[in-house]
Amino acid sequence: MHAALLLTHSWLRWVILAGGVYVVLHLCRICVSRRAWQGRDNYLVWAFGRAFLYQVLFGVLLYMMLGEPSARDLDRRLGQPVPWPLVHGVVMLAALGVFHGGKALVYRRVPLSHRASAFLALMVGTLAMIAVSIPWPFLTFGRPLFRLP
Ligand code: HEM
Repeated sequence: MHAALLLTHSWLRWVILAGGVYVVLHLCRICVSRRAWQGRDNYLVWAFGRAFLYQVLFGVLLYMMLGEPSARDLDRRLGQPVPWPLVHGVVMLAALGVFHGGKALVYRRVPLSHRASAFLALMVGTLAMIAVSIPWPFLTFGRPLFRLP
């Protein structure tokens, strides 16, 4: 169960990053061409949010599965009192909060004419928070880029 969840969590990261970059480029195109906001644009932002939400749920499940020895090992490798999965989880939860709160604000307060640029700023901010919290292989507590079954 843990292995399958970790594999899914590891690969879903690429779906979220690639999907996020696609949405950013799409929003850039809308801003540059100054075309009107359409229903399909809402759908792209929604789909990114949904994948992100599932990834966070998988992450929380993984966190609950971390046993004591595993947590101690992660602690020692980081050489710091706070284990990286905790920092990782807190930053990812914060990113999810920023994304969902920001999305609600954009829909309520931002006129259609400025919606693409507002979502662009929100997406770039959210992706930056996600990118800094991923355990990239070059970090002390790094994990593989592509985990195999
Ligand atoms: C509240 C949200 C999250 C929590 C609590 C969480 C928790 C965890 C935990 C506990 C691990 C280590 C699992 C283990 O070694 O058994 C892990 C690994 C990882 N997490 Fe998360 N995670 C969250 C969100 C995310 C998000 C949003 C992403 C990326 C979009 C992400 C990307 C990764 C990656 C790439 C790994 C390494 C996987 C591997 O070892 O191959 N996490 N996460």
